[in-house]
Amino acid sequence: MATRVVVGTQWGDEGKGKYIDLLAGDSDIVVRYSGGNNAGHTIVVDGVKYALHLIPSGILHKGKTCIIGNGVVIDPAVLIKEIKDLNAKGVSTDNLLISDRAHLIMPYHKALDELQENFRGINNIGTTKRGIGPAYSDKIDRCGIRMCDFIDEEVFAKKVKENLAVKNLIIEKVYGGKAFDADEIISEYSEYAKLVKKHVIDTSVYLHDAIDAGKNILFEGAQATFLDVDFGTYPYVTSSNPIAGGVCTGAGIGPVYIDEVYGVLKAYTSRVGAGPFPTEQNNEIGDRIRELGHEYGTTTGRPRRCGWLDAVMIRYAARINGLTALAINHVDTIGKLEKIKLCRAYRKNGEEIIHYPASLKELAQCEPVYEEFDGWNVDISNVRKYEDLPENAKKYLNRVEELTGVRIKYIGVGKEREQTIKI
Ligand code: GDP
Ligand code: IMO
Ligand code: MG
Repeated sequence: MATRVVVGTQWGDEGKGKYIDLLAGDSDIVVRYSGGNNAGHTIVVDGVKYALHLIPSGILHKGKTCIIGNGVVIDPAVLIKEIKDLNAKGVSTDNLLISDRAHLIMPYHKALDELQENFRGINNIGTTKRGIGPAYSDKIDRCGIRMCDFIDEEVFAKKVKENLAVKNLIIEKVYGGKAFDADEIISEYSEYAKLVKKHVIDTSVYLHDAIDAGKNILFEGAQATFLDVDFGTYPYVTSSNPIAGGVCTGAGIGPVYIDEVYGVLKAYTSRVGAGPFPTEQNNEIGDRIRELGHEYGTTTGRPRRCGWLDAVMIRYAARINGLTALAINHVDTIGKLEKIKLCRAYRKNGEEIIHYPASLKELAQCEPVYEEFDGWNVDISNVRKYEDLPENAKKYLNRVEELTGVRIKYIGVGKEREQTIKI
């Protein structure tokens, strides 16, 4: 039996979906434990591209059980669309289980996400506007609606009415938005509830039984360490805990059951949305990386901000998540540049520091300290053994291991499931 967690070490979009899909091959169960449809995980199998937002990326493997845990916030309309799209591509969703404790994203959450972002003006967070923040706020504020409430018509109707009594006031009086009609929502959502009901169970019980039975379980991280509400670049973060610790609260298992934690990173860094980014290359280098790596958002289509790999971040991610191995993607992409920079530390007030500061004011005073490497201008997309990589690529990867203190277990050399080197 093994339980493995896959987490993002940067600002998301590291290529987690690709590894989940790969590792799902020898897993029995794949579990999402945080976030919602703000996530966009791309998987390419035999040339066919899948973009998953809510359903675990293990779904493409036949016969695996996929779980959406209690820590996830679920937009029922998105869930049903994703199920239908997968079914249309011949992918079965019969083995999908949804926690009865997962919270719903309601139409007023999406409206509030948009209204709040507009209100913030130039200080906006650049959210995905999927209602994530407002849904998690309600969960913490104890007025959220859970799956178990959703599938009970009476409870659901009562909760929608109670919520709208307050939400409509905020939407109209504070933000000047348009109020929602409770009956319309109740009737639309009752139809969704009928479709979703058969998937809803107490998934924590299911997982414990599976652990007892010696099953292999894979926990699928969404977002990433630097988007974590506690450990990311607050307030430019998402509203959940994507870090490995989020598995315990977001799936309902104790920490003793986690065996391995894989941290996924890119051989460079990208970020969508606003917020600090010390190694950002807002210049022709960043543009080149964006074009070479096709760095446009899976969820919102926004161009991603691009820059050099920052070892200070990965070292921090190693500590916060307890990483046992790294999976580094886009080694094919970065090798196309003539010169590659890797940030080893920050210089702040003339001193080199290796720990990521909490204060954004202090972070703004940090200058990256770079080491420079030569690119390996050869096509490595067909390389499948570490020994066959160009020497320059090995030098770069060795230094990443040294600086982060974590060994590399997987190297990504292309989009496809098979374009991976296992060490
Ligand atoms: P996720 O959100 O972490 O699952 O990552 P996304 O799917 O949002 O973004 C990762 C992007 O990089 C996708 O377009 C993947 O197809 C692509 N990708 C992943 N690994 C590699 C790699 O090793 N090389 C190349 N060239 N592309 C990759
Ligand atoms: P995956 O799983 C990249 C970012 C948004 C925004 C901030 C808050 O594909 O790696 P939110 O809508 O969550 O309130 O937005 O977080 N963000 C992501 N960026 N990849 C993601 O997920 C993200 N999920 C949220 O762009 O800056
Ligand atoms: Mg993504």
